[in-house]
Amino acid sequence: MCWERDVLYLLARTPRGTEDILPKESRIWQYIEGQLSDIFSLFGYKEIRTPIFEETELFQRGIGEATDIVEKEMYTFTDRAGRSLTLRPEGTAPVVRSYLQHKLYGEPQPVKVYYLGPMFRYERPQAGRSRQFHQYGAEALGTQDPATDAEMIAIPVELFHRLGLQTLQVEINSIGCPACRGEYRDYLITTLKPRVEQLCSDCQRRLERNPLRVLDCKDETCNSAKEGLRPILEFLCPECGDHFGRVQGYLDLLKIPYVINHNLVRGFDYYTKTVFEIIYSELGAQSAIAGGGRYDGLVEECGGPSVPAVGFAAGMERLILTLEHVGWEPPTMEAIDAFIAGVGETRTAVVELAFRLRRAGIATEMDYGDRSLRAQMKAAHRLNATWTIIVGEDELRDGQAIAHHMASGRQKQVPLSSMEDWLKEQMDTGCQGTKE
Ligand code: HAM
Repeated sequence: MCWERDVLYLLARTPRGTEDILPKESRIWQYIEGQLSDIFSLFGYKEIRTPIFEETELFQRGIGEATDIVEKEMYTFTDRAGRSLTLRPEGTAPVVRSYLQHKLYGEPQPVKVYYLGPMFRYERPQAGRSRQFHQYGAEALGTQDPATDAEMIAIPVELFHRLGLQTLQVEINSIGCPACRGEYRDYLITTLKPRVEQLCSDCQRRLERNPLRVLDCKDETCNSAKEGLRPILEFLCPECGDHFGRVQGYLDLLKIPYVINHNLVRGFDYYTKTVFEIIYSELGAQSAIAGGGRYDGLVEECGGPSVPAVGFAAGMERLILTLEHVGWEPPTMEAIDAFIAGVGETRTAVVELAFRLRRAGIATEMDYGDRSLRAQMKAAHRLNATWTIIVGEDELRDGQAIAHHMASGRQKQVPLSSMEDWLKEQMDTGCQGTKE
C-alpha cells in the first residue's frame, strides 16, 4: 500500500524550514540560555514573554509596509472570528505593544527587558536561515543615552566572549533621524535615478519607496551604480552626529573593536540613529549573528508617547552554527548521580528506590527492561552515572544493596532504607567510594 507509506513519510518530517531540537542538542541550548540569563541579569534586564502571534497591523505599522518582511515573509492567517493575525517575525514590535498596553512608560525609565523564543519568517531556507528560528534579544525603552546603544552591542559581545568566540566583526552606522535621513533619501534618489538601469530589479522597484535599502543590497548588479555615493554620515544633523560620536566613544571605552559600514541600513523602517550588526564571516551568506539599533519613533508610531528606545536581537541557530564551526564543546558533560540496576526478582524494590532517591534530590535513572547486569552497567556508563546501585535478590533479602562507584570501581553494601542519606553524604563530601 504505497500511498500509506507516502503519507507516513510526510507525517514524519518537520515542515520545510523548521527543525527539531533533539535531546542531545538541547543541552547546548540550555547551556547558552543559562549564560544569557546570567548576562542579562548582570546588565539589569528582566525577562518579558509576549505571545507568539499578534495582530497583523502591529507588524505592518511597526516594521514598515515597504520592508521585505512585511511584503513577503510574514506568516499571516485569519482566525475563526475573521481577525488577521501574524506569527511574530521579530520581537521588537511586540515589546513596544506590551510597553504601551501595560503603560510601562509610567514606570521608572528606562524599562529594560530581554526575550528568547521562536520567530517566523517565510524565507528561502538555507544554512543559517530557517522559517522558524530562535532569537534572544533585549530592548531598553525610555532613554536616549548613547551608553545604552553601546550596551546593546556589549551584551552579545559579552556572550560571544564567554563562549570563546573571536574573529567576530562589529559593524556600526548611523541612519540619522527622519529630518537628516530625508535629505539623504532625496540625495540617493537624485543620484541613483540616472543609473537606474544598473540596479537589480528589486532595487529599481524600491528606489522611490525605500532608497536606503539599495545601499545594503547584496546583488552584484547594483555595485557599479553605488560607486562614489556619499555616505549618510555626511548628512547627519548635529544632534545625530554627536550621538553617533558618543556611541563610538563608549565602544572605545569598553574596548569593543568595530568598523563603520556606510552601507549598513538594516531592513526595518523603525530604525533611527545607531544601527549595528555582528558578523561571523565564515558562515557565508547568512553571516549576521546579531543585529539591532535605535528606534526613537516606534513607540509614538504605535500610538504612544514619544519615547526613545534601542535594542538588539541575535539568532540562536546561527550562534550554534558558529560554535560548531570553531569546534566548541559545552564545558560540562551531562551526568546523573545514580543508576539502579536490578538483578532477579527485584523490580518493585528498584522502582521504589528510584522514586525515593529522586525525591531526595538525587538524579536517578533505572533499568526499564529485564536486562543482564552487564547491559545495565553499560547503560550506567553511557548515562555517565557517578554511582550504580545494584539491587540483587540475596542482598534484597537482607535489606541491602551494593553501591558501586563507577570511576574507581569501589563498592560497599549499604542498607536500602538509608540509601538516600548515604549517597547524599558521599556527594556532599565528594567521596570516591569506600573499598569493602
Ligand atoms: P534581524 O537582523 O532581522 O533584527 O534579526 C536578528 C538576528 O536574528 C539576525 O542577526 C540573525 O542572527 C537572526 N535571524 C534573522 N532571520 C533569521 C532566519 N530566517 N533564520 C535564522 N536566523 C535568523 C531583528 O529582528 C530586530 N528585531 C533586532 C532589534 C531588536 N532591533 C532593535 N531591537
